[in-house]
Amino acid sequence: MKQDNKEYAERNLFNGLNGHSLISPLESQNNLVEPKIRLGILASGKGSNFEYIIKSIQKKQINAVISILIVNNPNCLAIKKAIKYNIPYVIINHRDCNSRLEHDKLVMKKLEELSVELVVMAGWMRIIGEELINKFNNRLINIHPSLLPSFKGIDAIEQAMDKRVTITGCTVHHVQKEVDSGSIIIQAAVPIKDKDSIETLKKRIQEMEHIILPLAIAKVAIEIRTNFKDKK
Ligand code: GRF
Repeated sequence: MKQDNKEYAERNLFNGLNGHSLISPLESQNNLVEPKIRLGILASGKGSNFEYIIKSIQKKQINAVISILIVNNPNCLAIKKAIKYNIPYVIINHRDCNSRLEHDKLVMKKLEELSVELVVMAGWMRIIGEELINKFNNRLINIHPSLLPSFKGIDAIEQAMDKRVTITGCTVHHVQKEVDSGSIIIQAAVPIKDKDSIETLKKRIQEMEHIILPLAIAKVAIEIRTNFKDKK
C-alpha cells in the first residue's frame, strides 16, 4: 500500500509538470511596475505572440501599454491583430530602404518618437544592427524557438528534430550583436514526442512562448523601473 502511495505521488509530480513543459525561472507576476511600461513590438509574421502580449495586458498580468507595432512586411498578419485590438501600427518595409542601417534608423526613430521603453521582437525576422541594439541596451528582447544556446538561427525547430534531441523549447533573451546570443531571461522546456512533426512540435513550443514572453516582459519591466529609480 505504501509503495502504491509513493508511485501515486511520483505520478502526481509529473502531472504537476503537465507532461509538457518546465519553465525556469518561475517568477511571480504580482510585481507590477508603475507607471505602465511603454512597449514597442517588432513583428514580421502571424503575430500570435503579439496577441498574447495584448491579452496579458488586458488580464493585468503586465502593466504595460503597446505604444506601437512595427512590421517590416506589409503582408504580415500581425497587422490584422493590431487592427482588431486597436493598437497603433506602422509598416517600415525594409525593401524600401537602401541598407540595413537605413531601415534600423527608421525603426529607431519611430521607437524614440513614442518614448518606447522596452522593445520586444515577437517574431521579427530581421537581423538588426549595433546602433539599434546599443540604443536599447538591456531594453530589447527576442523570443526564439529553442533552448538557447542550442539551435540558433531561423530553422531552430527543424534543427532540434534533425539532431533527435528529446527536449527542446523556447527562450526569451536580451538582444546582442551575435544572433540569438544575448543573456537568457526565461526558458521553457518542451519534450519532443516520437510522433511529432515539425507542425505539432511548433504548436506546443508556441503555446509555451505565449506564456514565457509576457513573463519576460514583466521581469525586464521591473529591471527597467529599478534602474530608472537608481539613476534619480
Ligand atoms: C515564434 O515561433 C518565434 O519563436 C519566432 O518567430 C515565431 C513568431 O510567431 N522568432 P508569431 O508571429 O508570434 O506567431
